[in-house]
Amino acid sequence: MNRRVLITGANGALGLVASHYFLSKGYAVTAVLSSMDKRSLFPENPLLELLAVDLTDEAATAALVETQINLHPELEGVLLLAGGFAMGSLSTTDDAALLQQYKLNFLTAYHVARPAYHYFEKAGRGRLVFVGARPALLASAGKDMSAYALSKSLLFRLAEQINAASKKHDITATVIVPSTIDTAANRQAMPDANFADWVSPEHIAGVMEWLFSASASVLREPVLKLYNKA
Ligand SMILES: NC(=O)c1ccc[n+]([C@@H]2O[C@H](COP(=O)([O-])OP(=O)(O)OC[C@H]3O[C@@H](n4cnc5c(N)ncnc54)[C@H](OP(=O)(O)O)[C@@H]3O)[C@@H](O)[C@H]2O)c1
Repeated sequence: MNRRVLITGANGALGLVASHYFLSKGYAVTAVLSSMDKRSLFPENPLLELLAVDLTDEAATAALVETQINLHPELEGVLLLAGGFAMGSLSTTDDAALLQQYKLNFLTAYHVARPAYHYFEKAGRGRLVFVGARPALLASAGKDMSAYALSKSLLFRLAEQINAASKKHDITATVIVPSTIDTAANRQAMPDANFADWVSPEHIAGVMEWLFSASASVLREPVLKLYNKA
């Protein structure tokens, strides 16, 4: 039986590369899309299962995760890649802006992490991989993207809680912290930047896959800063 991961944001820039990367390493992948309209991004592959849900919908997301666990109890981990970004300083960040980023960056991860963790706790093993952001760690980088930084910072706290509760199990919650990911959208938004300074989605996918290896099993409380030269 193939090893299996579930990936959210699978039709996004990082998610697409990560899905293909894990497939190329022989994993079965449950790719969670925002809509089945995005399925054409994926070629047919017997190891690939495509599903769609609005990850801000707690009940629908829990049902999807629980169904996957029942069908595939070999599930080893979840990559929580769905998220997004918004500019805005503290003075322009009202409740609506804050809630929008909280839902997009925190709830989309929390709604998968909670039922997945519940299962991993019973199984005694599991990997949860979150994507944080440097502005959540560094106030000087976050001050002009306040809601984004605040919403991402909760992912670090959630990972800490999972790790604190899992000390005696083979369960880890990792926060990957990219600088700027080398995506088509970022290249279009910042055409004068030196793209070679950024971190490629392939590098991030490689690090995420390593987290599932035997040599990574001794890692505890990992926060991995994948900044490259940016
Ligand atoms: N890009 C960067 O430089 C950078 C830097 C640091 C951290 N990050 C983080 O890394 C992650 C991946 O970034 P990316 O550049 O690959 O972003 P992306 O291309 O925008 O992909 C994000 C994915 O999340 C999906 N998504 C958003 N809300 C959803 C919802 N409610 N239900 C289901 N799916 C939902 C999006 O679906 P749609 O396609 O339908 O919108 C998209 O597929 C994000 O968490 C981002 O915040 C990115």
